[in-house]
Amino acid sequence: MDITHALPLLGGMSPERFMKQYWQKKPLLIRQAIPGMKPLLDRAALFDLAASQEVESRLIEQVLPAKKAQRQSTWRMRHGPFERRALPALKQAAWTLLVQGVNLHHDAVDALMQQFRFVPDARLDDVMISYASEGGGVGPHFDSYDVFLLQAHGQRRWQIAAQKDLSLQEGAPLKILANFEPEQTWVLEPGDMLYLPPRYAHDGVAMTGDCMTYSVGFRAPKQAELGQEILQRLAEDLSDAPELLYKDRQQSAVTEPARLPEGLTAFAHQALQAALKDPLALQRSLGEYLTEPKAQVWFEELDDDEADDHSLSELANTQGVTLDRRTRMMFDDRHVFINGESYLAGGRDARLMRQLANDRALSGKDWRTASSAAQELMLDWCLRGWLRVSSGS
Ligand code: SIN
Ligand code: CO
Repeated sequence: MDITHALPLLGGMSPERFMKQYWQKKPLLIRQAIPGMKPLLDRAALFDLAASQEVESRLIEQVLPAKKAQRQSTWRMRHGPFERRALPALKQAAWTLLVQGVNLHHDAVDALMQQFRFVPDARLDDVMISYASEGGGVGPHFDSYDVFLLQAHGQRRWQIAAQKDLSLQEGAPLKILANFEPEQTWVLEPGDMLYLPPRYAHDGVAMTGDCMTYSVGFRAPKQAELGQEILQRLAEDLSDAPELLYKDRQQSAVTEPARLPEGLTAFAHQALQAALKDPLALQRSLGEYLTEPKAQVWFEELDDDEADDHSLSELANTQGVTLDRRTRMMFDDRHVFINGESYLAGGRDARLMRQLANDRALSGKDWRTASSAAQELMLDWCLRGWLRVSSGS
């Protein structure tokens, strides 16, 4: 992607300028980010996904106050999967169905997410689709992560505020701001998009039935969680290290037997330093963690007929290969990471692997320049369903 090139997606701004001026800083409304936008999957297909065990979905219903004097409405939230008959009637007002991770199940939604790869893959999370009946919404709230809210069908009124008061209503089953004071209001039509940085107060209400909004969401590791994940992986590396026993030939006789020996504290210190001695260990753990597939993701291994090594390799030679849409692949200067595994890579093979990670595909011509070890590794990824032979033209 040419990051200096102006994009309609960003309202005629280049990704470079967007990242400098707006990313994590201030909201941006983009009219007709996707001109002529049509929903990428219809209501029935979305409801089918919400009925699946493999898809995370939530249903949010708002019970409007009976009397004007009662200001706050009541919220109800249930987790999926939902059979179609478990969803409210379409003409019932004020309910929303949220379907998470639609990009993992649908090629066109995955392709939409790819348009946002001017942000590193390590930060991209998923595309959530919301379906709302008239008046539906999830209430005024804030999110911890950046989000692009793309209107796909119907109209939604967005109100936003830069307020510092982010206190929440008590007792609600979802995060609802106790004191939302909107500062700006827009009605979004299909193709319009609103970017919000983290912790920006917002409230989207469906102005029409059949209102569909696509949220391109991001993820950011929490410091403590990342520390835990990395330490856990480093601990696993340590279990393979040679056994080194604490020795105390200089230990003198003690009058306070319960006191911890100083030498033992120093030994514990050395044990931790040993875990970080390999300068690549931290990078390796980080890459493995960031490419770990989500809990509900699984890959379809090739069956015996498809898995004939010889014909697979013939096909890859001519047609090239494409990463499965569920595969997470990243790299650093020394490693290639794929779905939670890491490989040391250098030279021409490393260049090819980086190209595969960036473009999510390799042509047959590029495949043919890979070493036989790299081809064998990629064939193994094909067998595991991580990589596919590109469909022939
Ligand atoms: C929605 O699409 O209804 C909610 C999205 C959001 O506010 O983050
Ligand atoms: Co939100």
